[in-house]
Amino acid sequence: MTDHSPDTGARAPAPLGQDDPATVIVFGNEKGGSGKSTGSMHVTVALLRLGFKVGSIDLDMRQWTLTRYLSNRAASMKNEGISMPMPVHVFFSRSDKPNRQDAEAEDRTRFGAVLKKLRSESDFVVIDCPGTDTYVGRLATGYADKLVTPLNDSFVDLDMLANVDGRTGEIIKPSVYSEMVWEARKQKAARDGSSLDWIVMRNRLSSLAARNKLEMERVVGLLAKRIGFRVAPGFSERVIFRELFLRGLTMLDVFEIGDSGKPQLSHVAARQEVRGLLNALQLPNRIPTPHSSQPNDEAIETPPVIGDEGAEQK
Ligand SMILES: Nc1ncnc2c1ncn2[C@@H]1O[C@H](COP(=O)(O)OP(=O)(O)O)[C@@H](O)[C@H]1O
Ligand SMILES: [Mg+2]
Repeated sequence: MTDHSPDTGARAPAPLGQDDPATVIVFGNEKGGSGKSTGSMHVTVALLRLGFKVGSIDLDMRQWTLTRYLSNRAASMKNEGISMPMPVHVFFSRSDKPNRQDAEAEDRTRFGAVLKKLRSESDFVVIDCPGTDTYVGRLATGYADKLVTPLNDSFVDLDMLANVDGRTGEIIKPSVYSEMVWEARKQKAARDGSSLDWIVMRNRLSSLAARNKLEMERVVGLLAKRIGFRVAPGFSERVIFRELFLRGLTMLDVFEIGDSGKPQLSHVAARQEVRGLLNALQLPNRIPTPHSSQPNDEAIETPPVIGDEGAEQK
């Protein structure tokens, strides 16, 4: 079709640059073990490897998974003499004030300050939320430009989005989490008129149980229209995702540091899935902020972790 509209020169918006605040990508849901930290880490490294400056925030003070993932990465660089890009990382400890109102006020002020700093210094800020309802988790959701909710490919996990009739697949009512996202959307629109793009990422897809998978697809599609999210292709169930944690590596590193051993087709496919997720996020066009190419392995301090079990052993 011919475009007869006057040429205003405004068809493609100018790419965002270093003076524009960073795009905030929040990984959240109210379910442990669904892939928030794995997704946060992979998206962070994917953006770093595209040359962007990334700030990351770990809000999960019970697990500190993203923080430990990055600590493991810093240790690998030191011990193995390899160089990998690092984000500027902050692990956020909640206020220990006994009074709830005082604690929330302190969290709000501190979170606001951290986010303001990272947004002004980075191209993207990636926030990893805990798998439970917390005040800072809700606060972060209210600042999300992109909210990514990983969903294990099982009907048990659908509960997190809505109550679904097990027999008919009919949606009974949105979940508490969906209502929280709705509130966050309203808050964000009221604050500065901006929108929150909610993306549900189906994770740990298996090639088995084809019937169950199709049924999930159908119900998730219905929910998407009803609750207002987009569906992104997630990662397949792959042992490699668990193995990479201990060395702090992602699928975007194994080839780049020459660590893929015998090239495996499944590794190439896994890397493609990560890139697929990044594309599905539909991030704004940005010019990467120039930054030091030196890996920033000093930014990570070891947080006060309770117990020493591997974060992947949940
Ligand atoms: N696609 C996947 N295939 C295999 N294991 C996965 C996949 N995604 C996540 N995992 C593993 O599942 C566990 C929980 O993932 P994690 O990202 O920590 O979840 P969350 O942050 O939501 O609690 C981790 O051991 C992680 O390595
Ligand atoms: Mg986590």
